[in-house]
Amino acid sequence: MPKITIPNPSLVILCGPAGSGKSTFARRFFPETTVVSSDRCRALLSDDESNISISRDAFELFHFIIDRRLRLGRLTVADSTAVRREARRALLRIGRRHGVPVVVIVFDVPEDVCYHHDTQRRRRVGRAVITKHQEELREALPAIPQEGFDQVIILGAEDLRHTSVDIVPASPRRAGIVPATEGPD
Ligand SMILES: Nc1ncnc2c1ncn2[C@@H]1O[C@H](COP(=O)(O)OP(=O)(O)O)[C@@H](O)[C@H]1O
Ligand SMILES: [Mg+2]
Repeated sequence: MPKITIPNPSLVILCGPAGSGKSTFARRFFPETTVVSSDRCRALLSDDESNISISRDAFELFHFIIDRRLRLGRLTVADSTAVRREARRALLRIGRRHGVPVVVIVFDVPEDVCYHHDTQRRRRVGRAVITKHQEELREALPAIPQEGFDQVIILGAEDLRHTSVDIVPASPRRAGIVPATEGPD
């Protein structure tokens, strides 16, 4: 698996079942403050990362932070499952509003691996939730390349072991910033 090149700024949408390794990947390859996590938003509101009864408010906060970071031209990693089409669409819309490239990284990791990871962490989501996410992802996978993202990267479990991420300055035009000396083409 070659190096992943991520333009800065951009919106990077992580997409994958619980336990597929999204947050671990984000921690490993991106500066801490660039990562906006839906679980963290749940915790910020209710002191409980797994409190799904406040999901609506948590996602409002999630989208708000992403929106405002992109408004400031900051690289932003959206750490949520994003296995549902509406979830990806809402994030794509925010990225488009700010004229930044929108990249999706799909964690196409087998259910057993996700489940194994899940058993190894403190806060477990359980088999049923992972199975549901897997089903949603299987359904979504063929459609994701046609959903209008600038880059779609699909990583399998083996890729995750070898991949590295390069964060590179986006070309000024892509970032919506055209130098004053550059004329229209
Ligand atoms: N590539 C990997 N190899 C081994 N263990 C991993 C890997 N990715 C994640 N894990 C472990 O699996 C658990 C769940 O990973 P996490 O990143 O929290 O998943 P997600 O954010 O997708 O729900 C964590 O305890 C983490 O240490
Ligand atoms: Mg996570």
